[in-house]
Amino acid sequence: MELPFAESWRIKMVEPIKKSTREEREKWMKEADYNLFQLRSEQVYIDCLTDSGTGAMSDRQWAAVMMGDESYAGSSSFFHLKETINKITGFEYVIPTHQGRAAENVLFSHLVKAGSVVPGNSHFDTTKGHIESRKATALDCTIDEAKDTQLEIPFKGNVDPKKLEKALAEHHENVPFIIVTITNNTAGGQPVSMQNLREVRAIADKYGKRVVLDSARFAENAYFIKTREEGYADKTIKEIALEMFSLADGMTMSAKKDGIVNMGGFIATRHEDWYEGAKRFCIPFEGYLTYGGMNGRDMEALAVGLDENTEFDNLETRIHQVEFLAGLLDEYGIPYQRPVGGHAIFVDADKVLTKVPKEEFPAQTLAIELYLEAGVRGCEIGYILADRDPVTRENRFGGLDLLRLCVARRVYTDNHMRVIAAALKNVFDRRNEITRGVEIVWESELMRHFTVKLRKL
Ligand code: F0G
Repeated sequence: MELPFAESWRIKMVEPIKKSTREEREKWMKEADYNLFQLRSEQVYIDCLTDSGTGAMSDRQWAAVMMGDESYAGSSSFFHLKETINKITGFEYVIPTHQGRAAENVLFSHLVKAGSVVPGNSHFDTTKGHIESRKATALDCTIDEAKDTQLEIPFKGNVDPKKLEKALAEHHENVPFIIVTITNNTAGGQPVSMQNLREVRAIADKYGKRVVLDSARFAENAYFIKTREEGYADKTIKEIALEMFSLADGMTMSAKKDGIVNMGGFIATRHEDWYEGAKRFCIPFEGYLTYGGMNGRDMEALAVGLDENTEFDNLETRIHQVEFLAGLLDEYGIPYQRPVGGHAIFVDADKVLTKVPKEEFPAQTLAIELYLEAGVRGCEIGYILADRDPVTRENRFGGLDLLRLCVARRVYTDNHMRVIAAALKNVFDRRNEITRGVEIVWESELMRHFTVKLRKL
């Protein structure tokens, strides 16, 4: 008999979680104005809001915490982290920051000016925010196939080389760099192929431009290259990561994802001029150069986390769990962005709650229904998150309306995945009875999804 798949770790410490009744959840949801960000974590049974900073550190990482050197300047923990990053990425210069958006803020303060154009593949919200707040443009060059949730292609996060070439032909004078997000979070945690990174490099070289990798989930991206792209099956994750970074000039990193720490980030680059430029902004925004936004102990834990999470077994366990959840949704016929990506399932709410009009926010309605059903918290990546058009002030209904269910790293078991899937199935089975959604009672001008107040219709 073939042995079944099992996790590449065992559990040494547990954290109790609590179930609740539907009645309690109805009350809490109302008190939270139907915004899942406003819930208290004790009111949540299984939390799929994000995979950011929610992973479980290993015994080796916790041991490393005790070795933190909290010296203000010249901390040995910084040098441990720097050496690990040098080894994994090949980038010589490292600036620690408190999280990914801080890395963006520091690097973009040096590189992005009013009128700049930054082409890329579905820039993450904060990346876009740090570009647009500098009166520059984030130009999305993702392949069109990413918008068709039912289409199965292996590298749905790719940059469209034709769109990128056109962007550079038109705007090259104003392009400070190209940014490629690996994996492509907004498109559904979809990977970018090595071939595509090579194509981006060639176009960048043609126009004399540099390439930044937004690397929050670079290890998951390397896993998909190993398992899906020809010629990589026999390479290690570390070899693949090194090759990916060899095609770029620098990176911004949210270490809260593939670094498996609860807080942290960094910039790394091979170019001294970028380092010198960014350095000037690190000190006032983040802190002195050998800690940036981090504690010594967190830098130690991150060095271990980066090393562990660029090992195949750890990644295989993780992706296997996300695929397990996707397999259950397949069984129940629930539509999501296919094939499933690295860190989450993105349920296509428009295809589930077909009776709820766009104006009443189907994905948010589905998120609320799932919470009321079983205390599972997901996150709307749809029409509310899309904010209003800055000029017309109309809601933007042009994109996808998705419910993202993130899987935290090394936190839940496959039994929790079964609960998530069953809860979703129960909502799915009564989808035709759900005909009304929510309306906005109060919203902020930007990034409204965090604080929006809603009313159930
Ligand atoms: N880039 C990507 C691709 C991200 O997914 C995130 C964060 C960031 C940058 C910013 O990093 O949060 O450390 O400041 N994504 C989280 C999420 C918040 O839920 O997807 P940060």
